[in-house]
Amino acid sequence: MEERFVANNAQPTKDIFTTRWQAPSNIALVKYWGKTVPQLPKNASLSFTLSNAVTQTQVEFIPLDKPTQKVSFSIVFEGEEKPSFRPKLEAFFANILPYQPFLAHYQLKIISQNTFPHSSGIASSASSMAALAACLVDLETQLAKLSEEERMNKISFLARLGSGSACRSTQGAMMAWGTHPAISNSTDLLAVPVNDIHPVFTDFCDAILLIDKGQKQVSSTLGHKLMHQHPYAEQRFAQANEHLAALLPVLQQGDLDAFIFIVEKEALHLHAMMMTSDPYFILMQPNTLSVIDQIWAFRKDTGIPVCFTLDAGANVHVLYPNNVAAEVNRFIEAELLEFCQNRQCVHDKVGSGIKKY
Ligand code: DP6
Repeated sequence: MEERFVANNAQPTKDIFTTRWQAPSNIALVKYWGKTVPQLPKNASLSFTLSNAVTQTQVEFIPLDKPTQKVSFSIVFEGEEKPSFRPKLEAFFANILPYQPFLAHYQLKIISQNTFPHSSGIASSASSMAALAACLVDLETQLAKLSEEERMNKISFLARLGSGSACRSTQGAMMAWGTHPAISNSTDLLAVPVNDIHPVFTDFCDAILLIDKGQKQVSSTLGHKLMHQHPYAEQRFAQANEHLAALLPVLQQGDLDAFIFIVEKEALHLHAMMMTSDPYFILMQPNTLSVIDQIWAFRKDTGIPVCFTLDAGANVHVLYPNNVAAEVNRFIEAELLEFCQNRQCVHDKVGSGIKKY
């Protein structure tokens, strides 16, 4: 239990409180893959905060006559009640109730939607948990005095307890999560912004190619578990921390060649972990590899600094600086969309984190 995050001084009131927050997705450059209870990462990770792929969440807090044992809530997603969302939310609320005991005094009506296609494989748990955490901390801010720093830290802290990567969706342009010697205020408990970056990265583009919109074969929760018995786990955790250390000066200097080298290596090493776990699995599809081949050929032919990263799925994130966006978008249109389901691609770019909507 982290005592400093317990909202002891937040006294519930008899007023209805309604709030709405949106949070973006994020794309990891150094991947989080492997954790311990309660959602603590085995290595530090680093991501770009995105801007277009967002979850918008409204929470109405209705005061109850008597406090409940568990947080009482309803969930409507994109206009429909979603019983299938309840187990993950119940687990989340059970985790956070000790940190926000005032929640036992309210019925929560949660209404949420995404601005990107649902089950597209875009990390919706990150944006949805960050948006919900922002709403919960907004109520806490009404009930107790929190400084701006305490408020942002609490949002990231709670979001982490919902989904690890969600803690990196709260602020832009980049966030790091996990204790790392090269980031002075870093911690396993929440993500911190990484601001010392070259301007080329502050409006970097991410075109998300939707290769396979079907269900993931393996949930990231199970994937993280498989790192417990994994023969290469310790080397992988050490390597991720080394990649992060190597990436920080590269981000400061705007060294795109070094950036590409580390980012693509990270993506392939993440998938190498999946291919070498027990049981093993392959989340890349033939079209994932075709896209990677095309990106490599285009980069070699043109010298344009475009690269890719992957999450726990078949989709490809195509990363490139904004000043080559016109050329890269033509390339995506001409050479890559044919490998996507229904030629679908979500154009996103680096953004600034949560906001009211
Ligand atoms: C491959 O944050 O989705 O996207 O903590 O179990 O909710 P849980 O996992 P999640 O894992 C994300 C894994 C990843 C890499 C990353 O975003 O760092």
